[in-house]
Amino acid sequence: MPFDRVIKGGNVVTPAGAFVGDIGINGEKITALGAALDATGAKVIEASGHHVIPGVLDVHVHLALPFMGAVSADDYITGTRAGARGGVTTLIDFAIPYKGDSLSQAVDNWHKKAEGNALIDYTFHVCVTRWDEHKDQIRGMVDRGFSTFKEFMIYESEGWQSDDRAMFGTLEKMKEYGSMLLVHAESARVLDELIARYHTPEMMKRYGARLHRMSRPNFIEAEAIQRAVAWSEATDGQLYIVHMSTAEGTDIIRSAQSRGVPVIAETCVQYLVLDDSVFDREDGHLYACCPQLKKREDQERLWKGLKGGEVSVVSTDTCTFTREQKEGWKGDWTKIPMGLPGLETLLPLTYTNGVLDGRLTLEEMCAKLSTNPAKIMGLYPRKGAIQVGADADIVIIHPATRHKVVPKEMETNADWSPYDGWDLAGFARTTLSRGEVIVDGYKVVGKAGRGQWLPRTFAGLEGTTGETSAMRMSRGPLSPLRVSDLEAAGIA
Ligand code: URP
Ligand code: ZN
Ligand code: ZN
Repeated sequence: MPFDRVIKGGNVVTPAGAFVGDIGINGEKITALGAALDATGAKVIEASGHHVIPGVLDVHVHLALPFMGAVSADDYITGTRAGARGGVTTLIDFAIPYKGDSLSQAVDNWHKKAEGNALIDYTFHVCVTRWDEHKDQIRGMVDRGFSTFKEFMIYESEGWQSDDRAMFGTLEKMKEYGSMLLVHAESARVLDELIARYHTPEMMKRYGARLHRMSRPNFIEAEAIQRAVAWSEATDGQLYIVHMSTAEGTDIIRSAQSRGVPVIAETCVQYLVLDDSVFDREDGHLYACCPQLKKREDQERLWKGLKGGEVSVVSTDTCTFTREQKEGWKGDWTKIPMGLPGLETLLPLTYTNGVLDGRLTLEEMCAKLSTNPAKIMGLYPRKGAIQVGADADIVIIHPATRHKVVPKEMETNADWSPYDGWDLAGFARTTLSRGEVIVDGYKVVGKAGRGQWLPRTFAGLEGTTGETSAMRMSRGPLSPLRVSDLEAAGIA
């Protein structure tokens, strides 16, 4: 069959393992994989000496989010360009209702932000912020093509906070609809108390950014995860813990999964590569994010959890604020907009600190960045793997070439980076999105507005694998897809 494009001679990572060879593309789809495809008449992309991996899904992103008195500085133009440069071909943002809005209005608002601006494909998690009003709207959002919902256990002042009743009720609905509840797990009341204790004018003056680590000990996250897990266990509703940052949380997830609780955990790359010593820096306030950065022991446990399987996904929680926006704190920690830039560096950081440092294999990294998120979020097999029939979302990276992180040379609107000066391998030399080259020679060449919204009908483990709870109990934690041979993966 003649191909439109052939990617030639790369180390191609498929769900069945890696092979050196070619990928044939027709239109938006992968149509063949093989050792030496006939490229007559096709546009050829040379990939020898490179890894050819599935496009990354960053399933935790906040673009142009009004939050803590500011609006996050990456929008759908800069955020999706940043993603593409970092090999991200799909993102999932959070549609959060503005004051008084229905779930449907929230989604409409987020569609308006994205349409005509997005370079890569996208969808939204729908945020349930006022249970009594929103609970009867959830079914309608499933019918509109949304299969993941989100509740925050904190952020009362933003009007976003959910209580146990809301989580329990939503998880019951998730079980019924085959959809999934994402939870930001931090223990609100105790956190409020610790903030009130520590964030006094005297303490803020004395400790500055270091107060962040003092007011958010690990038990703030661990208790909340434990409670959310209890409601998942009680309802058998699919739960997904976002941005898990602690060793204790990871232990809770492992134990819950071994009991067959349908809980999945995500961490973010900043919790894997940064620790709370950054708060001792003069510009330590820039690193304010929620949950805050933890200790080296937590990092090591999260890496171990990725390897062991109890941590299924690495994302970014991109919520960019510029230096000027962060400056708004003027020494008052309660006024600082929380969040970090991330889309552009997710793959380079995970590749450099994970694969090159020997913590993950290349295949494991692809499972955590692409295949697992696609499966869990109801986008597989269209997204998440290099296989026949999938969208041709493909990233070509050099195994060793490093690029220095220089904020002013990046696509993000952030004028600083937590990784400023770091030498990272794994930036995209070439990114293809649905068969179109959108990054070429490390430069973004794709046009704003070509990205498409992705409808979904299911999410979580049962929807993606056909597993029942009983099968899950006998299997243990989610592991990367295992296919016995190349043929089964559709390799020609
Ligand atoms: O600091 C963060 N993470 N900002 C975004 C909101 C959230 O909690 O995810
Ligand atoms: Zn959060
Ligand atoms: Zn977030």
